[in-house]
Amino acid sequence: ADPDPLQDFCVADLKGSISINGFPCKTTSEVTSNDFFFDGLSREGNTANKFGWNVTAANVLAFPALNTLGLSMNRVDFAPGGVNPPHSHPRSTEAVFVLKGKLLVGFVSTANILYSKVVTPGQMFVIPRGLVHFQRNVGTGKALAITAFNSQLPGSASLPQTLFASKPSIPTDVLTKAFQVDDTVIKHIESQLAS
Ligand code: GLV
Ligand code: MN
Repeated sequence: ADPDPLQDFCVADLKGSISINGFPCKTTSEVTSNDFFFDGLSREGNTANKFGWNVTAANVLAFPALNTLGLSMNRVDFAPGGVNPPHSHPRSTEAVFVLKGKLLVGFVSTANILYSKVVTPGQMFVIPRGLVHFQRNVGTGKALAITAFNSQLPGSASLPQTLFASKPSIPTDVLTKAFQVDDTVIKHIESQLAS
């Protein structure tokens, strides 16, 4: 979904002071083989949180060589029963490749139809760009997936965080009306998600 590159590579200079759509490039003399290497996905993420899940990103911010190349990946670790809460990526389709365990992967179309499947090692599921999706570890042990994106920075809007933990927060009347509940329910969810 990202624009095509106009040169072989453009390793991001993340400290550049100018602001553009993407990042300015390091000069060619600054670039070495090491720029094109990243081992940040080699370590298991810490799933000791209330969702039982952790995402480690290999996007342009973590791996600057991806700048202008139109792709990125995540490592997604799950404790038993762990859930990656419903979220969407505004700039990218997502391919989910399962390496370990058993994941229920699903997305909901704009026609409000749920498409989902239990995915096991070696199998894939694809989430069309921008659609709300989730994963849940339905196996007995840990689970591990690699997700691939056709954007250097897919962006992620988490529904629980967006709706109940934005700063400043969404007015409570908007949420009570939207969810047809009273404000104690909204306050309860907000307190559970406050960071
Ligand atoms: C999983 O949904 C991910 O965004 O990596
Ligand atoms: Mn995702």
